[in-house]
Amino acid sequence: MYTTLLTELDKGTLVITVNRPDKMNALNKDVIQELGKVMDEVYGNDEIKTAIITGAGEKAFVAGADISEFVSLDYSQGTALAKAGQDGVFNKIENCPKPVIAAVNGFALGGGCELAMSCHFRVASANAKFGQPEVNLGLIPGYGGTQRLTQLVGKGKAMELMMTADMIGADEAKALGLVNHVVPLEELLAKAKEILQKIHTKAPVAISKVIACVNDAANCDPAGFGNEITRFGECFTTEDMKEGTSAFLEKRKPAFKGK
Ligand code: COA
Repeated sequence: MYTTLLTELDKGTLVITVNRPDKMNALNKDVIQELGKVMDEVYGNDEIKTAIITGAGEKAFVAGADISEFVSLDYSQGTALAKAGQDGVFNKIENCPKPVIAAVNGFALGGGCELAMSCHFRVASANAKFGQPEVNLGLIPGYGGTQRLTQLVGKGKAMELMMTADMIGADEAKALGLVNHVVPLEELLAKAKEILQKIHTKAPVAISKVIACVNDAANCDPAGFGNEITRFGECFTTEDMKEGTSAFLEKRKPAFKGK
């Protein structure tokens, strides 16, 4: 079904693996198009509760956009490339009503770091490396990196990382708030799946509202507080809220339906 991605549904979690290991899983046109398509599947398929994005092999998560496709682009083609990527993939991941997390298993550079940052949060293997090295190529990040790196690590560090093109390791990325957990490579997918299994026991509609509200905050949306009030109110119209509160009072585990 996909030529550049591997997908596997495991207990409600779709594991999406970018599969161009000989090119460090670089994001060419096909990968971008297929990531958009697989996200449509995540949105639309009720069997998928959550998703993990990772890279094939042991060296790279994604080492950036495919630089070989950049050489001949002009202004309008460059603009169109960034816009298509942001609209079709990166914003779609960020705004997905189901949790999508990155399992960063190696180099996450340029578009790879941007892909990881568009996920709701990140776990990394100890060998992971992060960076936005676009200025080495006479470029800047175009898939949301200037915005999301600043949101995640703050202005000063984001400026330094993007101006120097320095790579940082997993532990520094954790200290900066770029990743939540660092584990040995062989434990990476299990760690990501374990977190998602815990999330599967919670109320899905409430989870989707958490995602929307936190995204409002991260994007400094002035409507964020008001949206929280509305979404809080909407929770009272769900079966899951009735089930969750009743289960608490009856001292039993809730059985949420996502309704
Ligand atoms: N786009 C296209 N091809 C890429 C790529 C990218 N972003 N990153 C790696 N590759 C390719 C290399 O060209 C090489 O292909 P080849 O075997 O046909 O020559 C292959 O992947 C292996 O990469 P190589 O550089 O030989 O591996 P390495 O272990 O020496 O270095 C990196 C790994 C990730 C440090 C290095 O590949 C790199 O710096 N990549 C570019 C990172 C970047 O600038 N990303 C931002 C893009 S906007």
